[in-house]
Amino acid sequence: MATQPEISSTEEPPRGRTRPNMVWPFPPRERPDLPDHEPATLAEYLRTAPLDAVDIADPLWWENDVEGVFLKRLRDEAPVHFNEVNAARHRGFWSVTRWEDIMAVDTNHQAYSSEASLGGITLFDMDPDFIMPMFIAMDPPKHDVQRKAVNPIVSGPNLAGFETLIRERTAEVLDGLPRGEVFDWVDRVSIELTSRMLATLFDWPQEQRRKLTYWSDISTSDPELPGNPSKEERQTILMGMLQEFMALWNERVNAEPKTDLVSMLAHNPATRNMPPMEFMGNLVLLIVGGNDTTRNSISGGVYFLNKNPTEYDKLRANPALVESMVSETIRYQTPLAHMRRTALEDTILGGKHIRKGDKVVMWYISGNRDERSIEDPDAFIIDRKRPRQHMSFGFGIHRCVGNRLAELQLKILWEEILKRFDRIELIEEPERVPSAFVKGYKKMMVRIPA
Ligand code: HEM
Repeated sequence: MATQPEISSTEEPPRGRTRPNMVWPFPPRERPDLPDHEPATLAEYLRTAPLDAVDIADPLWWENDVEGVFLKRLRDEAPVHFNEVNAARHRGFWSVTRWEDIMAVDTNHQAYSSEASLGGITLFDMDPDFIMPMFIAMDPPKHDVQRKAVNPIVSGPNLAGFETLIRERTAEVLDGLPRGEVFDWVDRVSIELTSRMLATLFDWPQEQRRKLTYWSDISTSDPELPGNPSKEERQTILMGMLQEFMALWNERVNAEPKTDLVSMLAHNPATRNMPPMEFMGNLVLLIVGGNDTTRNSISGGVYFLNKNPTEYDKLRANPALVESMVSETIRYQTPLAHMRRTALEDTILGGKHIRKGDKVVMWYISGNRDERSIEDPDAFIIDRKRPRQHMSFGFGIHRCVGNRLAELQLKILWEEILKRFDRIELIEEPERVPSAFVKGYKKMMVRIPA
């Protein structure tokens, strides 16, 4: 049996905090070392650059869909690797890229914390001046009781109750799409369907559903990227969201308990006395949780089927494959590319010495392509033997609350698509989100033949 290496005090890993800082020019469009930003040039750079010279958190790679080249190198050459480049921006972090190592972190919340006050669950620390406590960024016992308060909305009987509604809505949206004309699938279908679902979960006015999408986009936007709201503007917008939701809370806390998320939070003893910032944090969690992720899986399905026409033929010939195709899409897309933890103690991971307080980033998007755990992982295969064997929903105590709801939405969507359209044609490469957290699409132009 392999023995665990001992923690040695002599072999210190490089640290962003202690080493001279290496900072790449930012924003990425100004990088002189990569004069043209063609994906092929960027991929070649990632194939050849020294491992220690690349910041995998740089939005440039993600916007161009080339990050996988570097993640594969990390899996093969340095599966637990300290990312020191750009430490001024993110303090430096450990990149964990193999399935087994990610599982070891995700299932050990005693050693690896999600706490907001330690930085939270994404590569960039939560703003210390604007901490929004939310149960995804809490450890037990508080996490467990808050999770329990909202879990019923997406479990068994409630989920079954949603099915008819989701099918009707989906049919309505699909029937309203133009034929023979080019349109943006992201806006007309992916955002439309997810915002309608979110409005239902919150019992929020349907005519104002796009506000939920807007708040979700604001809360995950990078204030350092050109065109995005600054930190201060972001805070003001989210405080506005809080005010609107507070009005709903006040209305529902004195009414009979119902099964919407605000009512559930207002009536549950574990959450009814939450301070306003915690209410806001949990709102952001539930809005983002149900929004970007499902949205990008809906768009991803169209993209992958277009890139893999024989799989599309298989699906048309056998619509019973929808369920496994949905899981394969969620694996292949990995809508949340990573989750981050903070080490609570000195420990060893993949032979590396992780120190208390270090940031540990689990690259789910890499674990999902790890050939050590998944057969032929780079291929999109809609009838895989074990399609639910992926890490897109995470593992351990924070495993996605909404995973069954997301699968149901996608399953119904593809069943209804197959009943109506022979093909959804991709017209050009989509525009992608420049983010190492949300792996997704801003715009995807398609046409449904007349
Ligand atoms: C947690 C992914 C859909 C609500 C998570 C986590 C991931 C994830 C990776 C964190 C797991 C971890 O830290 O170990 C996804 C994906 C989705 C999806 C890929 C769609 C394809 C949804 C939906 C909802 C939702 C539809 C709600 C309606 C949540 C919540 C948590 C969570 C509340 C926090 C759970 C906790 O901390 O205990 N999700 N999610 N998600 N998700 Fe999802």
